[in-house]
Amino acid sequence: MRYPPVSLLRQNNILLIRGITLLFLSCVTIRISLCFSSVPSTLKALSVDGHFNFDEVHHAARDFGNRYQFLPEAVLHPKSVSDIATTIKHIWQMGPHSELTVAARGHGHSLQGQSQAHRGVVINMESLQGPDMQVHPGNSPYVDVSGGELWINILHESLKYGLAPKSWTDYLHLTVGGTLSNAGVSGQAFWHGPQISNVHQLEVVTGKGEVVTCSEKQNSDLFHGVLGGLGQFGIITRARIALEPAPCKVKWIRVLYTDFATFAIDQENLISVEKTFDYIEGFVIINRTGLLNNWRSSFNPQDPVQASQFNSDGRTLFCLELAKYFHQDETDRVNQEIENLLSQLSYITSTLFQSEVTYVEFLDRVHVSELKLRSRGLWEVPHPWLNLFIPKSKIKDFANEVFGNILTETSNGPVLIYPVNKSKWDNRTSIVIPEEDIFYLVAFLTSAVPSSSGTDGLEHILTQNKRILEFCETAHLGVKQYLPHYSAQEEWQTHFGPRWEVFARRKLAYDPLALLAPGQRIFQKAIITFS
Ligand SMILES: Cc1cc2nc3c(=O)[nH]c(=O)nc-3n(C[C@H](O)[C@H](O)[C@H](O)COP(=O)(O)OP(=O)(O)OC[C@H]3O[C@@H](n4cnc5c(N)ncnc54)[C@H](O)[C@@H]3O)c2cc1C
Ligand SMILES: *[C@@H]1O[C@H](CO)[C@@H](O)[C@H](O)[C@H]1NC(C)=O
Ligand SMILES: *[C@@H]1O[C@H](CO)[C@@H](O)[C@H](O)[C@H]1NC(C)=O
Ligand SMILES: *[C@@H]1O[C@H](CO)[C@@H](O)[C@H](O)[C@H]1NC(C)=O
Repeated sequence: MRYPPVSLLRQNNILLIRGITLLFLSCVTIRISLCFSSVPSTLKALSVDGHFNFDEVHHAARDFGNRYQFLPEAVLHPKSVSDIATTIKHIWQMGPHSELTVAARGHGHSLQGQSQAHRGVVINMESLQGPDMQVHPGNSPYVDVSGGELWINILHESLKYGLAPKSWTDYLHLTVGGTLSNAGVSGQAFWHGPQISNVHQLEVVTGKGEVVTCSEKQNSDLFHGVLGGLGQFGIITRARIALEPAPCKVKWIRVLYTDFATFAIDQENLISVEKTFDYIEGFVIINRTGLLNNWRSSFNPQDPVQASQFNSDGRTLFCLELAKYFHQDETDRVNQEIENLLSQLSYITSTLFQSEVTYVEFLDRVHVSELKLRSRGLWEVPHPWLNLFIPKSKIKDFANEVFGNILTETSNGPVLIYPVNKSKWDNRTSIVIPEEDIFYLVAFLTSAVPSSSGTDGLEHILTQNKRILEFCETAHLGVKQYLPHYSAQEEWQTHFGPRWEVFARRKLAYDPLALLAPGQRIFQKAIITFS
């Protein structure tokens, strides 16, 4: 595998700052190979509360994407934050002549090897999750959790206090450190912002092995850098997450449209009005014929009869998905509110699907699909996902071409589409989003399943993804990738645009040897090119 070189000095004068001095003096322009046999012994000599594993490392070379596999030298199962700090400090002190890198592995649900470290050390963050989750009720409730904690566990723990986090992902078997390194976007983001907008404080181990507490007030440059920072500036070992009173129940609603413009107007209105739903998403259905019953397995409706008899006729359909939270004793009021809101929408009237589920059932809905897919051997297949942020002014052009032309079906997996408001995204964080006030998340969540006809599902989907990206580029849509993946540093610079300088400056400040998260392929350790 080829990593792009750092090339920092050449491209950014701003980077000729104190932090580089060490590299400047000691660095040769060429990578110096490490004597690999010595690596385990130096790690073995470290005193840690947990342990290193040098043999059972294969699981750390895999991820949900199921396409990239890089074997690490060792896996650290940390029992304490100091295990992580000790390990990183040790590798930092080996200097630029060692090739050793470090990747935090959350739940390994990356798509293209982002949590892997070729011949490096993978830190199994879930080993750090402990019994010490601390819920603080009160006026501004929050919970302190380990960076390796799964969101599903935080939900269950905080519910004991009648509380829950505000902003979610669609799937909860992901770690805090993993989603905060990206953004964490779901149907609550239009109102609360992404998960990175709902964190008060972090504890981070930097690329020099320093343990730093940071927040908006304290070490704020590191705090903002780490949020959406693709693991480049430090390893999140603890996070303080904002909570709110949790509802008991959820009204879960789906309605269909045949016209994209009408669908988009309704979505945009719903995210703008004061009193609205608690969750707003949507998805696209292309080339389905026959009756649309049971068309998304995780949905668990007591379908009105007419809805399950809606005939799609092969037309492209847009499904608006909504949820309203409530408590048992508020049923009348919530029904009235929903009726009012729905009366302002222009969906096809016979397509109202409604169900009522518990809050946990709603939030953990994708896990139900996971279990079904696992039982059929369809979970551990390649996932060539593509996630895009698209400015509102260009969403119709995008929809016309992509849903009308490039995609011929959506049977490979759901295609999500919903708008969010930029004002809820803190522009000091590392996340890269489009320029406009409103932008859409469009997520192509495909699975490459070997087909009976023998065609290569993966190649087909990758070709389609390429066509989508090429269209975005030639039509100048101002699109940004979410969960971005590039293989050349020039592409990363284009991705970051004017934000690249800040990103590269933070890299030099917090991980000057580029030890961390090598699987993102943004910087390469210990290669500095001059001139
Ligand atoms: C089924 C499914 C549904 C999803 N739904 C959503 C969704 O609705 N919204 C959304 O926003 N995303 C969603 N995602 C994407 C998800 O946010 C990413 O996969 C993310 O990588 C989280 O996974 P993880 O915890 O396993 O982290 P990993 O994949 O293990 O790590 C991701 C990156 O972060 C780094 N990292 C991991 N832990 C830490 C840490 N503690 N400190 C610093 N860096 C760290 C890793 O080195 C790697 O570079 C979904 C993914 C899947 C598989
Ligand atoms: C986005 O949010 C801001 C701040 O809450 C608000 O002023 C603006 O009207 C919102 N934009 C839309 C289109 O809803
Ligand atoms: C619908 O999908 C089938 C294969 O599943 C394909 O043969 C057909 O061309 C598609 N129709 C359209 C209109 O794209
Ligand atoms: C961030 O937003 C604030 C206020 O909206 C603005 O003043 C500032 O210039 C923005 N900063 C960047 C780096 O875009």
